[in-house]
Amino acid sequence: MSGTAQIGVTGLAVMGRNLARNFARNGLTVALHNRTVSKTRALVDEFGAEGTFVPAESAEEFVAALERPRRLVIMVKAGAATDAVIEEFAPLLEEGDVIIDGGNAHFADTRRREKELRERGIHFVGVGISGGEEGALHGPSIMPGGSTESYASLGPLLERIAAKADDGTPCVAHIGPDGAGHFVKMVHNGIEYADMQLIAEAYHLLRSVAGYSPAKIAETFRTWNTGRLDSYLIDITAEVLAHTDADTGKPFVDIVADQAEQKGTGRWTVQIALDLGVPVSGIAEAVFARSLSGHAGLRDASQSLPGPTAAPLDEAEAARFADQVEQALYASKIVSYTQGFHQIQAGSEEYGWDIDLGSVASLWRAGCIIRAAFLDRIRAPYDARRDLPSLLSDKQFAEDIGAAQDDWRAVIAAAVGQGVPTPGFSAALAYYDALRARRLPAALTQGQRDFFGAHTYRRTDREGSFHTLWGGDR
Ligand code: NAP
Ligand code: ATR
Repeated sequence: MSGTAQIGVTGLAVMGRNLARNFARNGLTVALHNRTVSKTRALVDEFGAEGTFVPAESAEEFVAALERPRRLVIMVKAGAATDAVIEEFAPLLEEGDVIIDGGNAHFADTRRREKELRERGIHFVGVGISGGEEGALHGPSIMPGGSTESYASLGPLLERIAAKADDGTPCVAHIGPDGAGHFVKMVHNGIEYADMQLIAEAYHLLRSVAGYSPAKIAETFRTWNTGRLDSYLIDITAEVLAHTDADTGKPFVDIVADQAEQKGTGRWTVQIALDLGVPVSGIAEAVFARSLSGHAGLRDASQSLPGPTAAPLDEAEAARFADQVEQALYASKIVSYTQGFHQIQAGSEEYGWDIDLGSVASLWRAGCIIRAAFLDRIRAPYDARRDLPSLLSDKQFAEDIGAAQDDWRAVIAAAVGQGVPTPGFSAALAYYDALRARRLPAALTQGQRDFFGAHTYRRTDREGSFHTLWGGDR
């Protein structure tokens, strides 16, 4: 016998409960389940009036509440808890039913789970969901993987709850088979790390080199947010910088310990990029910058290391410098996205996902943390040419970055001169210059490898693999 609920959600912590409410507010009948039953009851008590909920106290009751084919969303802690919940429900399901994992799973786990469940006749859809607690309730950006068949059943439901871009398009699209959705969500978070690091460097430069106060920097960010950098992260940065600590009256940013934490998706992005051989240097620097900030002992022990003495800028110079920082930030951001999209392209090729990069840019336009006007500009070249080799091969982006490069270099030179660390800006410029270079010193690296390890090298003037008999009695 099948029930009446079009979708079920198990795991009713912040994300699950808000997602369930979002489904219900959009007219769906939603079955509810949570390991700790009191949370299911609490949701119905508090928000029951928002729509039609069918609370269930056991796994059997939950499954029975769902219409066929059953669609049940798991929103529990990624890792072992997800496996435990899958094992609890899978034996109760029938062929054609769909298990949806909306947690932050590693895409390799999603691939494994999808294969195991496929062999048992059950669809498994790993879905990247971005936008945090608020997004889950009001409209997240949704990145579903899994089979085309499962998307046909699930897609229309996800479209109802997804964020909508300015043109009304729902921020959801079938990304590709098995782990493609969680892979793209992982890279989203890697790009998020890079965006946040670049913004932090811009702040540090405006504070230390231009001598601006947090309030003045907030004002600067607000101005930038009306232009090409218009984005959620720039917007909230201005809010954070304008905020004053109620206890001390000091700028909020000055009373927060300067040690950034991380839950791991940025690190995954870099680990996988290393496996795929994709240079995501901007994302890697962002992850390392968080790690470095957390090494309090190392930093304490280094306080007496000498650095340059900064010459203060006058008001006009500071204003000019702030404009240059905007150029450096924009150029570095182009590089981060170039690297992130390269990683998605490489993952897609490695795993046979055939991911449409224009569609990825499109569904990041609203709902997620990296939402920005910029994503519309990324979508256009990929829509025009699906196999675009790199964002930097797009004429418009190449022109933009070319126009910014003098200021970008000037900002990094000022940072070096004044001893302000800019690992994100610098890595991005190094990537840009490496791509531009006619010859890279990799030729010398190959010579060294051949010398000490007979690793051989290729030549520029003829085909084949070569080894030189290096002289001496070594
Ligand atoms: P969470 O703290 O990650 O997980 C808590 C939920 O998992 C509770 O419902 C808990 O049930 C359940 N759970 C844990 N271990 C379990 C087990 N062994 N068996 C059954 N249930 C178990 O919750 P969350 O923050 O809402 O996140 C849910 C998922 O979404 C996670 O994978 C997270 O990474 C992902 N996500 C989170 C965000 C965010 O901003 N928070 C954004 C996107 C994605 P009890 O109530 O019984 O303890
Ligand atoms: P979203 O896709 O909405 O960005 P997410 O990937 O779960 O959601 O997390 C977004 C950011 O919030 C991440 O940067 C993440 O932490 P890290 O930066 O440390 O990786 C952070 N975040 C997510 N869930 C969190 C939680 N339960 N506690 C603290 N931070 C969390």
